[in-house]
Formats: sequence, C-alpha cells, structure tokens
Amino acid sequence: MEQLDFAIELARAAGDVLKHYMSREKRVELKGFANLVTIADKESEALIIGRIRDRYPNHAILAEESGASGSSDAAQGKWIIDPLDGTTNFAHQYPFFCVSIGFEREGEIQCGAVYDPWRDELFTAERGHGAFMNGHPLTVSDADMLRSALIMTGFPYGFREKIKTVVSQFEAFLRESQAVRRGGSAALDLCYIAVGRVDGFWELDLHPWDTAAGIVILEEAGGRVTDFAGNPFSIYGSEILASNGQIHQEMVKVLKGAQAR
Ligand code: IPD
Ligand code: CA
Ligand code: CA
Repeated sequence: MEQLDFAIELARAAGDVLKHYMSREKRVELKGFANLVTIADKESEALIIGRIRDRYPNHAILAEESGASGSSDAAQGKWIIDPLDGTTNFAHQYPFFCVSIGFEREGEIQCGAVYDPWRDELFTAERGHGAFMNGHPLTVSDADMLRSALIMTGFPYGFREKIKTVVSQFEAFLRESQAVRRGGSAALDLCYIAVGRVDGFWELDLHPWDTAAGIVILEEAGGRVTDFAGNPFSIYGSEILASNGQIHQEMVKVLKGAQAR
C-alpha cells in the first residue's frame, strides 16, 4: 500500500538524522525526571511531519514531541509517530533505538515501519500481507514454555509512583522465565518478538507512538498482543502484553499472580 512505502521512506530519512547525531555533541533537555529529549528527537519529528503535511494534508498526525496536529479528520488516516524511540539509550550512545511510524485508519493500524539505523534493520508490515525485516518474511519463535523463553520489558517514566507493581511483575517473570531483558526501546522490543529473537514482552503506561507500528509488525509475524488480562489491545490503553502467542496464557497468569501479591 502507498502509505507503507511512504512510512518506509520517512523512517529511513529520519533514521539518517538519528545516525548523524549519534556520535556528535547533542544537547539533552529534560521533559521530566529522567525523561530526555534531544535535538535528534526534534529534527527527526520535524522532518517526518513536514513530509506528511506535504503529501497528505487531510491526514491527522499524532507525534510524541508535538502532540496532535494536521487535520482533525482521523477518518482520512492518522500517522502515529515516535521520531526516536529509545532516547535515553541514544543520549548515552547505547545503540538500541529506532524510528517508529504507524498509519491508522478506521480504528485499526493498517501498516507500520520501524527502523533501527544503527544496525540498518527495517521492520515493516501491512495488515493482511505479512511482516518483513529488510524484505525477508518474519515469523515469531516457537518457544512454547515460559521457562525456556526470553522476555523483555521496559519501565515507564512514571514508574517511581508504581514501583511496587513494576518490581513485583519483574520479579514474577524473573522467577518463571529463562531470562528477562530491558532494552529501552518498546518499538524494537515488539519487532524483536516478530523476528524471533525474543518470545514475550510486557510494559505499563506506554503511549500510542511506542506501539502503533510495532503491533502490526508483530501480529503479521504471527504474534499476539493484548492487555495484561488477555483482553483486546488498544494503543490508547495503558497495558501491553505481547508474545509469540504460544506463551501468552502463561504470561497472563504470571501477571495476574504478580498483581495479587
Ligand atoms: C521509551 C522507550 C522505553 C520504554 C519507555 C518509553 P522514548 O520511549 O520505548 O523502552 O520503557 O516507557 O517511553 O521516550 O525513548 O521514546
Ligand atoms: Ca517511545
Ligand atoms: Ca521518543
């Protein structure tokens, strides 16, 4: 679909901006305690939004740094953008970050592109047409037990207010899975399940721009995304549980147990 081709073009161009700033001096500002923003976040977002406005003046835009803009008629289509997912990593020159661009219409993410400029890995999907990394088809792993699964998570910026919940969930997965990783880029975490490097992921309080592109890529690779209880997922909700499908129910059980502690 033309929107996927366009999302890919945008993600690659914005990825070049991130790569340019990666090894250079970048002014880091604080949006909140430990919540950073750099010149790269801003330039990447300005580039993406400028090109969308030129090409689709009737579409709505939701982007992390500038919020909602463009047309208010989301029925035409809505672009959901994280210009730099993994800003803390980026600011420390820790190479795990990406650009994430999803396209929503009729309440459903139709396609998405996530680009890791450091590894030159481009994850793409259009609903109903499969998921790909650099053009190669993706399938989730076949891990069927949590105790042999590698799980990822992330901590929301507001986790200090929810430290008990966050720590009890983390502890429960540490006990039940083979290992837990904290990558620092939710969009890449989802793509890593799609490509079979990781088997599951959970996080609290993500935003639509963190997950919009990643969920269509994961679902098209055969994965499953829900809230913590196994109910349908919404990018506008506050819980995400994602997996290769096979370990999903076990993960729901672990989260339920952690909640009850
Ligand atoms: C963050 C990353 C991180 C997740 C945070 C997000 P940002 O996005 O996705 O992995 O744990 O909750 O806010 O701020 O780097 O775009
Ligand atoms: Ca993000
Ligand atoms: Ca971001």
